[in-house]
Amino acid sequence: MYFPSYRMRRLRTSARLRGLVRETDLLADRLVYPLFVTHGEDIDKQVESMPGCRQLSISNLVEEAHAVHELGIPAVLLFGIPAEKDEAGSGAYDDEGIVQMAVKALKESLPELLVITDVCLCEYTDHGHCGIIKDGYVDNDITLEMLARMAVSHAEAGADIVAPSDMMDGRVAAIRSALDNEGFINTPIMSYAAKFASSFYGPFREAAESTPGFGDRRSYQMDHRNANEAVREVLLDIDEGADIVMVKPALPYLDIIHRVKHETRYPCAAYNVSGEYSMVKAAAARGWLDEKSVVLETLTAIRRAGADIIITYHAKDAARWLAEG
Ligand code: PBG
Repeated sequence: MYFPSYRMRRLRTSARLRGLVRETDLLADRLVYPLFVTHGEDIDKQVESMPGCRQLSISNLVEEAHAVHELGIPAVLLFGIPAEKDEAGSGAYDDEGIVQMAVKALKESLPELLVITDVCLCEYTDHGHCGIIKDGYVDNDITLEMLARMAVSHAEAGADIVAPSDMMDGRVAAIRSALDNEGFINTPIMSYAAKFASSFYGPFREAAESTPGFGDRRSYQMDHRNANEAVREVLLDIDEGADIVMVKPALPYLDIIHRVKHETRYPCAAYNVSGEYSMVKAAAARGWLDEKSVVLETLTAIRRAGADIIITYHAKDAARWLAEG
């Protein structure tokens, strides 16, 4: 018996050797950058709790999309802030709605950039819930009709992928059949399949102006204590026709990402959400963390866990840093 029987450090002696045996790559072509579009002319409004993120009016959004594209990021995820909200969230499925107009403008100016649209009512309802309220409860089946209409209107505007984030039961099937009926057989659905009721969405609700006016989202989003249930949610969405399944948030749920990838073998997206972003930004601003290395380590860890796609507000910075090498 001698020690050491094997020297792990042998393959760590130079950067080139370490590069040869590296198991996980992070490339800009895995990233999706979320954008917030709002009505008006020449609006560029910082979201206070998410430094670097802004609400943009359409022409500024198009300009920003060109910058994103030039960094080698293949896709944006679009959220809309309507001029008016109502009980039924009718701005969500209006052909002249904010997202529909933004998608048209983006696809006209920059057809190569993939445009993914968030399909959910919470930005459009005056009560801020992700569905239609009946007797104080978010009614599942009525909401499905609205979501299906919303997804079709996004596809008609030119959306490349629709991404339902509402967590109603049966929405993927409802959206798939509505899309197919309207001839959009090749529009993929990226479903927010395992979406947890998370405190990490706080800053986003400022950005998207979508804080629920009463109660919380626990009657539709998942309990953060549950992992088997997350896998069941994902399997159901796959049965209903989801093309890409998402886990959200990312960093506190790496175990879920890992299980979803390995138990389903489906393309898996992870959403590195607003609260995860804001924590890093706040610490970096105080000099407590080195932003670049923390962001690249975080995104690589999400990839290592099993995510094929990472949706992140850090995407532009990360793409820049990755290009620098
Ligand atoms: C809409 C939606 C939310 C997020 C994405 N889509 C908020 C929520 O469910 O309250 C959160 C994104 C983030 O925090 O970055 N349903």
